[in-house]
Amino acid sequence: MKQQNIENFNKHIKGVLVTEEEIKAAIAKAGKNISDSYDGRPILLVSILKGAFVFMADLCRAITVPCEIGFMCAKSYYSGTSSSGVVKITMDLEYDISNYHVIIVEDILDTGRTLNDVVKMLKARNPLSLKVITLLDKPERRVVDFKADVSLFTIEDKFVIGYGLDCNEEYRNLPYIAEYDESVE
Ligand code: IMP
Ligand code: MG
Repeated sequence: MKQQNIENFNKHIKGVLVTEEEIKAAIAKAGKNISDSYDGRPILLVSILKGAFVFMADLCRAITVPCEIGFMCAKSYYSGTSSSGVVKITMDLEYDISNYHVIIVEDILDTGRTLNDVVKMLKARNPLSLKVITLLDKPERRVVDFKADVSLFTIEDKFVIGYGLDCNEEYRNLPYIAEYDESVE
């Protein structure tokens, strides 16, 4: 059974990398750009669960034109902070995307495997267009050649938590992005 108290929880939070204010400002800008460029077109925002649920919630509220929301579940990390190298789609979209301009909303672009696979899969379903927006990008970690259309923050090769991102399912509820400290017990 997991037994996590506040002291234990806090000691893994090494330092804040991106503050709530910085996230808020970047999302406001991104929402405006989407609203300006997609006005009058059918938009489907597709978020990749679970990590992107917080980003999706804030981004969709920064978009001022009509848009629809869809979810899929893709998993690439199975435990702790190391990448398994396997991407599994555990829940698919319940949408025929052929009549939509799709924007994939992702939390973090790391090795690139998840988005590479998801983009390939969704492109094969012939959306009107397909773009990717990611909150965070760790370019140093890339193993497949993949670039997001928009990335709000580029960060160093550090394992991060908060704002939807987890370590073993915890820390998603932090309102900011922090570095996870693996050195403490
Ligand atoms: P990729 O397929 O390696 O690009 O992995 C992307 C996925 O791995 C993200 O959607 C996250 O769920 C997870 N991930 C990658 N880096 C981190 C991190 O620093 N903290 C938490 N989750 C991460
Ligand atoms: Mg994710």
